Amino acid sequence: MLAFPMSDGGCEHLATVVGRLSFSLLLLLPWLLAMEQGSTKKQHSQQPEGKSNIHVYVRVRPLSNEEIAQGEKFSVQLSRDEQSIKVLDRGYSSSSIAFQFDGCIGPTVGQEEMMQKLRLQKLLNKVLEGYSSTVMAYGQTGSGKTFTMSGRQEFLQASNNLKSPTDGLIARAVTYLFGATKSQSTENNPKSFTIKASYFEVYNEQVNDLLRLNCAPREVKWSPNEGFYVADLLLVECEMVDDVFSVLDEGAKNRKMGSHNLNKDSSRSHCVMTLHMDSHWKLDDGPTIIRHGRMIFVDLAGSERLKKTKSSGDMLKETGNINRSLFTLGKVISALAEGKRKDVIPYRESTLTKLLMESLGGSSLALMIACISPALSAIDETMSTLHYASCTKTIVNLPLVNMDEKDKVLRLA
Ligand SMILES: Nc1ncnc2c1ncn2[C@@H]1O[C@H](COP(=O)(O)OP(=O)(O)O)[C@@H](O)[C@H]1O
Ligand SMILES: [Mg+2]
Repeated sequence: MLAFPMSDGGCEHLATVVGRLSFSLLLLLPWLLAMEQGSTKKQHSQQPEGKSNIHVYVRVRPLSNEEIAQGEKFSVQLSRDEQSIKVLDRGYSSSSIAFQFDGCIGPTVGQEEMMQKLRLQKLLNKVLEGYSSTVMAYGQTGSGKTFTMSGRQEFLQASNNLKSPTDGLIARAVTYLFGATKSQSTENNPKSFTIKASYFEVYNEQVNDLLRLNCAPREVKWSPNEGFYVADLLLVECEMVDDVFSVLDEGAKNRKMGSHNLNKDSSRSHCVMTLHMDSHWKLDDGPTIIRHGRMIFVDLAGSERLKKTKSSGDMLKETGNINRSLFTLGKVISALAEGKRKDVIPYRESTLTKLLMESLGGSSLALMIACISPALSAIDETMSTLHYASCTKTIVNLPLVNMDEKDKVLRLA
């Protein structure tokens, strides 16, 4: 049945909420709909099991046909062991700068092979154990962020379960997670999962729910248990992997429609899709242990805005007008890389960095894919991306299981 637990922002009548859903989403509703937060309270209740650096991979896209026709040259070269990348000075390898990463993924690597190279499975398995994991794509506009995260087709087709070889990381990760939930539960060890999805964008410091058309921007709130979160975001319960694909489809359509109607520049928006995976694990004659795993996928705005903002020197005007979130993201990454104290990291200066606080120097596991164009004409952007990616690599997180307070008592007993 439909469940509408009270959220911080109050409870809306079912008819109002359903009325706001677009028709296509309604068609797909065997799902339960619930308002964000009410049913998903979590607490960090465990000692950290260890430090974990943010893993950083670079992905180089191929030159486009147009670029080839224009006689573009390759500006980068991967090392044989795929651990480092050289930026060639004006196309000649004699004078060049090398950057080390967890891995470098070349232009001929397809989507499936990319998944193996990223070793994403470990991050996904941690979500099943109740950790939060974040994957974010960073880079200039046109460098392959959306291709990497979502694949070539802008709209994923419902029921098109991994039929396209260009399907992106989100579709593949979600398919893996659903498969893994089934294999985790045995007769002697019954474990069930409740899976919900949310999808929002941060544009001009506003949070828009991509699963609800025509609703007012959502508020970012803070609570001692949750940290920063988006209030009253629609959470869609997903029983099958196709349900998540429908959510992705809906979010991509609404993002496109929103940017068309309002004449927005979509390369300035940050898109965040979250899979909330709550596991219920019944101990023999004992209580049920509940864990709140989160898989967060972030397709960031084009990083060239960051560079433009920095180079102008007129920080106040630029951060206000261009993209405060992207600018602050750069500041947060730099401050964390310099080892500054947590209380002086400027997370609170932008919407995105508030919401990514757990992913950058917090209690989440995280992986960044820095996407770059190989074109010599993009060499400045490439250098900037590799610089921030290098800083990100040094950021240390302390991953924690998200569990309820009562489970903490059980563990200590
Ligand atoms: N690894 C890749 N292989 C093939 N084509 C790619 C790859 N990465 C990006 N592209 C293509 O390059 C173009 C720009 O990619 P896109 O993902 O839209 O960039 P961004 O999201 O960073 O702005 C698209 O036409 C996309 O299909
Ligand atoms: Mg994009």
